[in-house]
Amino acid sequence: MIDIKDLHKSYKIGKNSLHVLKGINFNVKEGELVSIMGSSGSGKSTLLNILGILDEADSGSYHLDGVPIKNLNERIAANYRNKFLGFIFQSFNLINYKSALDNVALPLYYQGISRGERNDRAMSYLEKVGLAEWAEHKPNELSGGQKQRVAIARALASHPKVLLADELTGALDTKTSYEIMDLIQQINDEGKTILVVTHEEDIAQMTKRIVHLKDGVIIKDEKVEQVRALEHV
Ligand SMILES: Nc1ncnc2c1ncn2[C@@H]1O[C@H](COP(=O)(O)OP(=O)(O)OP(=O)(O)O)[C@@H](O)[C@H]1O
Ligand SMILES: [Mg+2]
Repeated sequence: MIDIKDLHKSYKIGKNSLHVLKGINFNVKEGELVSIMGSSGSGKSTLLNILGILDEADSGSYHLDGVPIKNLNERIAANYRNKFLGFIFQSFNLINYKSALDNVALPLYYQGISRGERNDRAMSYLEKVGLAEWAEHKPNELSGGQKQRVAIARALASHPKVLLADELTGALDTKTSYEIMDLIQQINDEGKTILVVTHEEDIAQMTKRIVHLKDGVIIKDEKVEQVRALEHV
């Protein structure tokens, strides 16, 4: 599903260049649940942004579902993002003046899906994340955990091949974090490929594989015995 080879990325800051990713190689197969761990500044978000086609590497290759991701113009990049990827962020990134239902339905509008189908799909994904009764509420009437559930419903509604989550529990207390990880595990149990960036060991242990990043290189890539979140809620 994801195949990257010898990926490098530097940021230019004035005359200086900061080499952030220094030859990353890894593969993610369909149905995997992988965490990317590392301390602050190790390059996790940089890597996730490249995987999410929000940024481009300087060198190396990236194939997503067999499609080479390179030198894309913004229109095609946006098209691939819609087609392949669902994003979940630490800060939820919901639109405050729209209801939960409209937040979930909005990306479908940009994919040319009819109003009826958009609303049906949005409602069925809100049901899936346990928020059917909150469909008409705006984000400021929801708890952090509920907001993240809306964001997960929104990400799923486009039927992405891969979900990418950057610190999805970073703004949540422990109990709520585990409830969100329980949902992530259920979605993965159904076959969805999911990558989560985290610097929390307990969250990483709830995935099936941990990729450790340090100073821009993968220092360890291990399969783990998945801890079920539900048992810790
Ligand atoms: N747009 C940018 N321009 C310049 N430097 C950047 C940019 N984005 C990130 N960096 C630098 O690249 C390095 C890696 O950043 P990155 O955000 O990938 O780290 P991270 O592992 O996600 O950290 P955190 O856990 O704090 O989110 C850091 O030193 C950061 O300051
Ligand atoms: Mg980060």
